[in-house]
Amino acid sequence: MNDAAPNAAPQTFYLKDYKPFGYEVESVKLTFQLSPNATKVHSAIRFTPKADAEDNRFFLHGEQLSLISAKIDGTPVTARLVEGGLECDVPRTSFLWEAEVEIDPAANTALEGLYMSNGMYCTQCEAEGFRKITYYPDRPDVMSTFTVRIEGDEPVMLSNGNPTGAGEGWAEWHDPWPKPAYLFALVAGDLVNHPGSFTTKSGKDVELNIWVRPGDEGKCAFGMEALKKSMKWDEDVYGLEYDLDLFNIVAVDDFNMGAMENKGLNIFNSSCVLASPETSTDANFERIEAIIAHEYFHNWTGNRITCRDWFQLCLKEGLTVFRDAQFTADMRSEPVKRIEDVIALRARQFPEDGGPLAHPPRPEEFQEINNFYTATVYEKGAEVIGMLKRLVGDDNYYKALNLYFERHDGQACTIEDWLKVFEDATGRDLSQFKLWYSQAGTPRVKVTEDYADGTYTLTFEQSTPPTPGQPEKAPRVIPMAVGLLSPNGDEVRATEVLELTEAKQSFTFEGLASKPVPSILREFSAPVILERETTNSERAFLLAHDTDPFNRWEAGNALAKEVRVAMVLDGAAPDAAYLDALEKLVRDDEQDPAFRALVLSPPSQSDIAQTLHERGHTPDPQKIYDAAETFTQTLAQQLETSLPRLYAATTVEGPYVPDADGAGKRALNSRILSLLTRLDGGEQAARQYASADNMTQQYAALAALMKAEKGETQSQAFFEQWQDDRLVMDKWFALQIACAAPETTAATAKELTQHPLFSMKNPNRFRAVMGALAGNHAGFHHASGAGYQLLAENLIALDSVNPQTTARMCAAFQTWKRYDSKRQAQIQAELERILATRDLSRDTHEMVSRMLSA
Ligand code: BES
Ligand code: ZN
Repeated sequence: MNDAAPNAAPQTFYLKDYKPFGYEVESVKLTFQLSPNATKVHSAIRFTPKADAEDNRFFLHGEQLSLISAKIDGTPVTARLVEGGLECDVPRTSFLWEAEVEIDPAANTALEGLYMSNGMYCTQCEAEGFRKITYYPDRPDVMSTFTVRIEGDEPVMLSNGNPTGAGEGWAEWHDPWPKPAYLFALVAGDLVNHPGSFTTKSGKDVELNIWVRPGDEGKCAFGMEALKKSMKWDEDVYGLEYDLDLFNIVAVDDFNMGAMENKGLNIFNSSCVLASPETSTDANFERIEAIIAHEYFHNWTGNRITCRDWFQLCLKEGLTVFRDAQFTADMRSEPVKRIEDVIALRARQFPEDGGPLAHPPRPEEFQEINNFYTATVYEKGAEVIGMLKRLVGDDNYYKALNLYFERHDGQACTIEDWLKVFEDATGRDLSQFKLWYSQAGTPRVKVTEDYADGTYTLTFEQSTPPTPGQPEKAPRVIPMAVGLLSPNGDEVRATEVLELTEAKQSFTFEGLASKPVPSILREFSAPVILERETTNSERAFLLAHDTDPFNRWEAGNALAKEVRVAMVLDGAAPDAAYLDALEKLVRDDEQDPAFRALVLSPPSQSDIAQTLHERGHTPDPQKIYDAAETFTQTLAQQLETSLPRLYAATTVEGPYVPDADGAGKRALNSRILSLLTRLDGGEQAARQYASADNMTQQYAALAALMKAEKGETQSQAFFEQWQDDRLVMDKWFALQIACAAPETTAATAKELTQHPLFSMKNPNRFRAVMGALAGNHAGFHHASGAGYQLLAENLIALDSVNPQTTARMCAAFQTWKRYDSKRQAQIQAELERILATRDLSRDTHEMVSRMLSA
């Protein structure tokens, strides 16, 4: 065994240290002899030294491998096992490296490399998992073609590319497209396929398959349709065609992430591909459609053009998230998708950017790359591309993208390459814009206005608070989409993009008959925090009149936050004007139901905590909870007489169809049901629960009942009905904790960790319980500290099983410095306890130290 020494001083990797590998990899041939505890992997790799290499060290990554033999050009050689891999003396000319190693997939609970899930073999190689399969230069800038032979008695044995032969006990595959090792995949097991096909725009027939465990065949149809829509969309919008004769998707139950874009063989967490009306909610369907698109889109943005090194991760992830968002906006509703994304950005990325884990979209150092698959790299990475597109315009955007695909196909690229295509396509200098990639932190933009003699002036001042390692920030390019409304609600200036480039800057609008009402940061044109003194009546005016749907929602959201903040800070009663505005909106059948549902969904409690923190207050989770309860109760009472009628009017009749239209209506209906349940003792929800023929309505009814502490019977019935369905059971676990009152949240979660169906080995189940605990704001932050303690204990227990998932979930503590000194002391003690754990993984060690040291 060649294991890195546990708790060895952690090594830090730096962007500035990048050096190309000294060898070309001409081809890779792998043979797997599958066996649960002793799989043998034989590799035959042709290396050619690069003439111009500055470093000829022959180092291959390798971890948790038993080396059986190594040969060069057929002659046995002795390799030196060193930390993280091996070194060997090699010829100065092209040579064939052969190695045989043994690995133990059944013991691999970290779910990186080759592992087993329900008796099925599968792999996860991104980012650095291939080195747990064999010795190899496991870095994304080393690209090669792969030929794979799988020997074993599994009925289905898959790898990347096209099948080239199969017989009793073996199968061979060849992938003609050079790829980095992180895109390698192998799957073998007792699987059944849901087939499909797609003809590309140039007339090539592509065979499509979704492979699942027997019993899940009935949950593939939606995913297959999503795949075909994605293939068509990428042709129509980006001109990009699929490049193999076969595209396989496999569903696995044990998976650290959502899904993975391995060339021609995408592997999905079963929660992100399996769907049926009876077992999946509207939200599940939307997510599945998006993630299938995302992984498919990586075929060009990630696979054909990949990353030079892992610091460039947002090159593929930010761009592919941006592309999947465009796709969802086209398939569903553009404003609804934008609102959902901004809610998610504020919930996940803003706290990261404002806390101890803050880092730029392109980080410059890391210890464990798995810790940088973050909201900043993904979501902010996508926002940066959205700003770029807005600045250069749509035509220039697609011109630059065409140039990107033309110039860089088959290469491993950097953010510099990416920005250069925009510079070359548009003639624009992007050096200041590039700061978005290197500076962390969310800019604050303060807006003031002035009106005199028909001239209206908007003045913007930008500043970004310090982040770890970056005390000073330079002003960035910020595209501000602005429109102006007249006091009677007409738009007097259509949307215009103002380009902020300085710390303080003014823009004037001439010839206005009266002082306009500004609609600023339309469509959320930049990921910033806008600070502007305004009145609630102006917000209500924009909620009613803004022509930009995003800003209409934003006005309502800002108003809701003001009302809730006033309730928390001054014990104010819920603002009557706001309740009236909501009532008017909920009754307005002219408005899109999905939009109404969003406006009726109050800001989350952690969002209120975040807002209080941004304004210099210490959030009190219990008070925030109480205000939320009071507010919702008051709203329910205000609507009391109309709720039954509204419920009836928004109920969707007929067979369940998981489209955007139906989903929007059901979202509004569920929102109304939850209000109604506060008043009618749960009668209507119990009826809906009993009659529901789809999970969306069954789940909404159960959630409403449980929140009102009236769902005991239904929760029991739900368990009886669904105990054999892993994905539905995840919902059951999570919902009990999400609905628990603050003082019982930790106890509820603890009890569920003792449930026979709880497991440390299944990331979905662990996340269902511990993620719901961390997501129940008032429960997690309950003054007793029980929430913190329970999470810490479980993270410590999980770390030796699955470091990657442990480290990701540690981020639940990242906001700790916002809270009062007692809570800070409690969290600090838990973080220190985690850090003191023997043999703590490098992943968790890095996350916890970063949180403690800032
Ligand atoms: N490449 C990632 C999957 C991945 C992430 C593998 C981290 C290894 C380590 C994949 O393309 C991805 O981004 N998946 C997301 C979902 C997507 C819709 C943003 C995920 O898994 O959450
Ligand atoms: Zn991705």
